[in-house]
Amino acid sequence: MSGRLEGRLIGLGVTGSIAAYKAVELLRLLTAEGADVVVLLSPSAARFIGPLSFAALSRHPVETEVLDLLPDGRIGHIVIADSADALVVAPATAHFLGAMANGMASDAVIATCLATSAPVVVAPAMDGDMWSHPATVANVARLREAFGYVVVPPASGPLASGQSGQGRLAELARIVDAVVEAVAGRPIRQPAATARPPLADAPPREADLAGRRIVITAGGTREPIDPVRFIGNRSTGKMGVALADAALARGARVTLIAAAVEVPLPPPGAGTEVVRVETAAQLRDALSTAMLERDGRPADALVMAAAVADFAPSRMAPTKLSRGEGLTLELSPTPDLLAEVAARARVAVPAAGRRPFLVGFAAEAGSLDRAAGKLAAKGLDLLVANDVSEAGSGFGTDTNRVTILDAAGGRDELPLLTKREVADRILDRVAAALDERDAGVQTGGSTSDGRGPAGTATPASPRRAAR
Ligand code: CTP
Repeated sequence: MSGRLEGRLIGLGVTGSIAAYKAVELLRLLTAEGADVVVLLSPSAARFIGPLSFAALSRHPVETEVLDLLPDGRIGHIVIADSADALVVAPATAHFLGAMANGMASDAVIATCLATSAPVVVAPAMDGDMWSHPATVANVARLREAFGYVVVPPASGPLASGQSGQGRLAELARIVDAVVEAVAGRPIRQPAATARPPLADAPPREADLAGRRIVITAGGTREPIDPVRFIGNRSTGKMGVALADAALARGARVTLIAAAVEVPLPPPGAGTEVVRVETAAQLRDALSTAMLERDGRPADALVMAAAVADFAPSRMAPTKLSRGEGLTLELSPTPDLLAEVAARARVAVPAAGRRPFLVGFAAEAGSLDRAAGKLAAKGLDLLVANDVSEAGSGFGTDTNRVTILDAAGGRDELPLLTKREVADRILDRVAAALDERDAGVQTGGSTSDGRGPAGTATPASPRRAAR
């Protein structure tokens, strides 16, 4: 059953009450209802509870400073104000109520409430005398009547002061219900993840690729027309470099074969080898070398993120062509490098049962229908497919929305993620499959082509357990 807030973006504003810790559980409950939640903390809330728990649970960076910009230059609280389906301020302090009633945008929570046209739900929590003070009563009335905010009144009971009275933050289930009611019947404001706040980078993974050698290709190849001109493509290498960085962080030895890239490459060093290439032909040679055995072991995996030219000029002019001569180019298809590696691996490696795990990418425009066919035709274990016509996905962006297909017919549609997080999700699959492959080798359980069930995840393998 889907939750009552499925697909909704909810801004959770937390202000500086002792009840601020309850906001963590509220976040969890909103998430359990299917909401994508982004948290805003007032400076005093941040003194009660730090942003880390909120960031880890919401998967979004936490807004704490009204003047801070997002990494992509957007103004965080305005992005939330414009994309949230509702804001909920819980707990809301007496200070919040007063500043809000007077429109004083002194912190990120109030600034977001002021800037939004979404419904706002407010759940106050304070000392009982503060709640009954005429100033608070007037402020609450203004929020309700003039602003149309939904106020979920505090409950009665023991208070932090040691006294008893009305001031305890309302039951969290009641606050969730108020949010559900506030958005009922309204269309989702910003279904596109690109219009929403960015996702935070995931916490670092364990060193589950230690002892593995992974070959990664990145960037776009350039096919020369003459000594100064080439046919290229819009690949910036961000995805491939993110893969290399992520694999290194997880303990792998990485050979990064980089064609034209626009991002810094990892510095060569222990465990990192960087090979620069320009053309598809050079990439082919570099790949053959990199996939060969080193120290008695072939590469464990190839992740082919490079955008390899599909066509190259049949002949390169030896000198710069002159405009006056006009130009008709004859192009020839390039060999399918990934399919070549897959074919070689099928023939050469089964002896040791250590067939490399092969991951391809497919940049499709408009539909991913052809992706499964590519996976089978090229003989891959995984194919990472994305629709490059979608905003926030594809060349040059920092984010990507991909679907991971596997050889067993599995299909994992990931949400819009940073390229680093996409890289880690791919490497999760690579690490699990390699562990499973080796477990199969040890027990003699691999199939005739030396390949375990491709792409299936085994959470606990002997190799992992031994580490
Ligand atoms: N690839 C490759 N050699 C080529 C072209 C592509 O190894 N000459 C690799 C890419 O690096 C990618 C995968 O194959 O990992 C899929 O690339 P894509 O361009 O989507 O597929 P193509 O086979 O070129 O099919 P088409 O151009 O018909 O979409």
